[in-house]
Amino acid sequence: MGEKIFSFGENWKDFSSYSLTPERLEQAKRSLVDILGADDIKGKSFIDVGCGSGIFSICASILGAEKVVGIDVDPVCIEVSKRNAERYSPGQSRPEFMRVSILNDDSISRLGKFDVVYAWGSLHHTGNMWKAIKNSADLVKNGGILWLSIYNKHFTSPIWKNIKQRYNRSSEFGKTILVYFFAGIFFLESLVSFKNPFEKMRGMDFIHDVVDWVGGYPYEYASPDEVIKRIEGEGFRTKRFVPTSGHTGCNEFVLVKK
Ligand SMILES: C[S@@+](CC[C@H](N)C(=O)[O-])C[C@H]1O[C@@H](n2cnc3c(N)ncnc32)[C@H](O)[C@@H]1O
Repeated sequence: MGEKIFSFGENWKDFSSYSLTPERLEQAKRSLVDILGADDIKGKSFIDVGCGSGIFSICASILGAEKVVGIDVDPVCIEVSKRNAERYSPGQSRPEFMRVSILNDDSISRLGKFDVVYAWGSLHHTGNMWKAIKNSADLVKNGGILWLSIYNKHFTSPIWKNIKQRYNRSSEFGKTILVYFFAGIFFLESLVSFKNPFEKMRGMDFIHDVVDWVGGYPYEYASPDEVIKRIEGEGFRTKRFVPTSGHTGCNEFVLVKK
């Protein structure tokens, strides 16, 4: 019997049904502009790999990207993204959402090349992270940008992998217990480090973020050096690196294709 994987789509559906507000969309938009600058989005082609709720595709459209495509392997994510776009995208510049796996070479080769390839927090959940990174890199035009965020490798990473596997094998009751157990720990951790646990950047909220973290499986991770070495070997230069603020969180890489 195969390993049980996490339903990202159901988590995004739940998030979108009551937690996706104009303020969260604004936070998501700011997170794009803070790193890329509005000029690297306006008039450009943009693909969102593993688009989840679709909010970053929607933000890229709002920021004036000329062509925006959001892909995800999970049909629920595509359904939710389309619904969110109807709600928040201005009519004439709505992103196109497609059910495509970044691991499917044929489908990927038909998508064309993009000025910006945005793969935030998705490639480490595909089950074949290095192939997903290579295929995302292949989508970038010469001179274009690849923006990756990949879980950091830490000595606790194998323990988290085990917790995530257990979560996905658990009953609904077991899943709820695990989520509230870790939500309690993260909440206390934030308080002792004087951080507001509810002040989430990038448009996510606390409880859906905990579910995504505790359940998100497949789960892979890499050190910054491993990612940079691999991607520079594909003909990119590193423009910006933002290390995770935690131990096992996401490192961010903004890379330019030579
Ligand atoms: C943690 S979510 C990140 C969503 C979004 N990028 C964001 O930053 O909010 C990871 C997403 O990757 C998607 N995903 C997993 N495997 C994939 C694959 N092989 N191809 C495309 N998307 C995939 C999941 O369905 C999920 O929506």
